[in-house]
Amino acid sequence: MKDKRNKPYTESDMVNLVNNVNRQEDLRYNRRSFLKAAAGTSIALGLSTLPFSVKAMVDTFEDEENRQEITKLADLPKGSSIEFHYPTEEESALLVHTKAGELKAYNNACTHLMCPVFYEEKDEVLLCPCHKGYFDLNNGHPIAGPPQRELPMIEVEVKNGTVYAVDRKYRHG
Ligand code: FES
Repeated sequence: MKDKRNKPYTESDMVNLVNNVNRQEDLRYNRRSFLKAAAGTSIALGLSTLPFSVKAMVDTFEDEENRQEITKLADLPKGSSIEFHYPTEEESALLVHTKAGELKAYNNACTHLMCPVFYEEKDEVLLCPCHKGYFDLNNGHPIAGPPQRELPMIEVEVKNGTVYAVDRKYRHG
């Protein structure tokens, strides 16, 4: 390649120079466009995921709101039960520590005519003495007598030796 130093510019040099300037401009505008597009995409993504973030926050608050201390696990030996109220003071419930060491909890208003249901330790069942209605301790399903619907199940959780009610499940509406 020839050395062009100290030589006058030709017309083609001027064309090259203009092309170079145009290329620099193109690059600058392309970079700016890219940054704008990237920022726009970030904002759009942020906005589109906002409802999920808000829902997660609300769920967390609701979980905390629904959490309710029932008892210390040490105060509830295997084969015993304790009554509590959940999720409101008007709704009575029963927490059972089964002989096998599981925790089972249900709202204990009988689904026949609302008498209170009790834990029968000998047979490990839930009994409604009013009309001899029986419910399965493992899932709250009616197994004998007049009740046709299961008891609402309450989810429990043990944290640092304390049993909490955390949610209620209606399974058949
Ligand atoms: S109220 Fe429970 S069996 Fe009738």
